[in-house]
Amino acid sequence: MARVFSGVKPTADVPHLGNYIGAFRQWVALQDLHECIFCVVDLHSLTVPWDPELLRKRSRSAAASLIASGIDPERSVLFLQSEVMEHTELTWILTCVSRMGELSRMTQFKDKSRNTENESIGTGLYMYPVLMAADVLVYRGELVPVGEDQKQHLELMRDIAERFNRTFGDTFPVPDPYIPVEGARIMGLDDPAYKMAKTTERPNNLIWMNDPPEVVRKKILRAVTDSGREVVASPDKPAITNLLSIYSAVTARPVSEIEQEYEGKGYGDFKKGLAQAVIDFLDPFRARYLEILEDPGRLDKILDTGAAQAREMAQETMQVVRDRIGLRRS
Ligand code: TRP
Repeated sequence: MARVFSGVKPTADVPHLGNYIGAFRQWVALQDLHECIFCVVDLHSLTVPWDPELLRKRSRSAAASLIASGIDPERSVLFLQSEVMEHTELTWILTCVSRMGELSRMTQFKDKSRNTENESIGTGLYMYPVLMAADVLVYRGELVPVGEDQKQHLELMRDIAERFNRTFGDTFPVPDPYIPVEGARIMGLDDPAYKMAKTTERPNNLIWMNDPPEVVRKKILRAVTDSGREVVASPDKPAITNLLSIYSAVTARPVSEIEQEYEGKGYGDFKKGLAQAVIDFLDPFRARYLEILEDPGRLDKILDTGAAQAREMAQETMQVVRDRIGLRRS
């Protein structure tokens, strides 16, 4: 059994289908195999300008979404990052172990700061990966489920852990990335070349987990398709392959079985079937999600318990860290 840690930023009111299939679905499955810690990383949301009330609301709904997706607070630790101070303490210490050169090489930082003058790039954006390293290392996490876009941050995390261990003695396990199963990377419905992602200009790119049935149906019927008419997954059919991945994920059926079902039928029938499958899948999610949000007392209790459990683990690590690096009187 390994110790798993992953985090989600509270960036929207509900996740979209790509978040669920690409991340949360894997997290839910990992609960059966490992000791899991899942965190709503609200401090990471401060790296770009934010609205305080919206952040507070979204942190809560992110936690509710995780529970509605199948994260079981009885088995996994679920909490808000800002409620465990040790994250920020370790961040400062790791800041002093990390280097400008390695942080400057992070492609996410380069992308996000590309259109900003050097003088006004937020320092939080620059430090983002160090906070992420602290998130995992403060629990001595071993396995980190992340998407493709976070792999470079994980490499940095490993470098920082190794450097710390070399300098101060073996303290942190060097965490391994856990890359999602094949077909987990869900692409935009309106452009299968890019992953499904929140954008303001293109509402038909994604399906929100609380989209009502008629909206789901409309978005799927409008999804782009490939030339030809066979419903098969293949490299020259990126759009149909993506829709098949979604179909497979929401029904837990293998792609080959779905291909067989639609043999000799066209894209139209396939999209109708897919829309219904997504609607049937989202229905219980929406019900659970609303039920959780309607009982704030219960959610608070879950998050209080989670924070207490997380704090205990983090404090244990920090005792060792402070001791090794020469902080605190002996
Ligand atoms: N940076 C991650 C993302 O954008 C979120 C995150 C923060 C995270 N801390 C983490 C993921 C620690 C894994 C482990 O998706």
